[in-house]
Amino acid sequence: PTVDTTGIILKTGSGSSIKRECEQEAALSVKGMRKHMCCNIGGKRDEMLILPVNDSISATLDTEHLHAKTTVMTSPTFKEDRIWLNGKEEEIKNPRLQNCLTQIRKRARNFNQWKVHICSENNFPTAAGLASSAAGYACLVVALAKLYQIEDDITSITSITRSGSGSACRSVMGGFVKWCMGSEPNGADSIAKQIVPASHWPEMRILILVVNDAKKKISSSIGMKRTIETSDLMQHRLKHVLPNRVKAIEQAIIEKNFKTFAEHTIKDSNQMHAVCLDAYPPIVYMNDVSHTIINLIHAYNEAVNEVKVAYTFDAGPNATLYLLEESVPEFVGVLDHFFPPGVNSEQYRKGLTFREVINSQEL
Ligand code: ADP
Ligand code: CO
Repeated sequence: PTVDTTGIILKTGSGSSIKRECEQEAALSVKGMRKHMCCNIGGKRDEMLILPVNDSISATLDTEHLHAKTTVMTSPTFKEDRIWLNGKEEEIKNPRLQNCLTQIRKRARNFNQWKVHICSENNFPTAAGLASSAAGYACLVVALAKLYQIEDDITSITSITRSGSGSACRSVMGGFVKWCMGSEPNGADSIAKQIVPASHWPEMRILILVVNDAKKKISSSIGMKRTIETSDLMQHRLKHVLPNRVKAIEQAIIEKNFKTFAEHTIKDSNQMHAVCLDAYPPIVYMNDVSHTIINLIHAYNEAVNEVKVAYTFDAGPNATLYLLEESVPEFVGVLDHFFPPGVNSEQYRKGLTFREVINSQEL
């Protein structure tokens, strides 16, 4: 194969068929307070266009550690579009996927009659509250845009990713990103904007604590829909909390004010999960271990008399922690002490509580 500079692999197949293959990595994006509002439980004002009911903010990780990796290939010999996720074939008729494919093909200049095969792998848990949908759709749309040679059309890419998974529109950009909800009925102004690049706050570190890597029982989109339809607390959150909170977090990021950033992030995570519980029937995303992590972080911050670590949980039991580089060694030591490596996951799976695990370790 010949590889051109954009990373597209042009493969010469048998006879006259030419395959175009394109590979793209997109980082997992974790939330500052973002998902709380969009990928998860923000709710949407338009289900088809995926228009949110509030602004939201997230941080995008670099692709080095946690990422989705998507390869797309097209050939005149392919009989139908197909997709494999983590090695397993998935339903291509998924409406969100179809949205993305249709819109990309509409804009494509080349190859748009050919069928595609899509292969995507996440190197972190899928559908477990770590934003696989955001990374996955961002990656897919950028890969398809390269394949169909419309990668320069950033505006289209943003809105197409949004129609796959709302929060994916933020994940196309690096650093801290805001998704402005916009007001146009067609969603033209519901777009992501970079607040600052990652280099603005190079001391910022993110730790992901995988509590349970199983697929969540209630997907983010179902959770969002139920919350917006049934939770009274959600109405309060939308009117009286989120507008100011988004502004405050954005300002804290610009000023690199960790304390303000951390406090709002923590409170927002807690309020989002309170709103989930207020849905009818209630939705519970966190488990005992998640709550133990929360308690541990508050105990730690109190002990050091400073807000050094922030936590946030998306629609799942897994924790995303924000802390500054200088706090990492000490806090990782604390984590190792309370969650000894090699013990937890197995015992937690057997249903032991945190306290029982600790006792069994005689710590
Ligand atoms: P998460 O918290 O991981 O974002 P969601 O419920 O929001 O969970 O979305 C999970 C869904 O996103 C998966 O069931 C799948 O349909 C889709 N998805 C996840 N990863 C990818 C990927 N790499 N490529 C395409 N779609 C993906
Ligand atoms: Co998601």
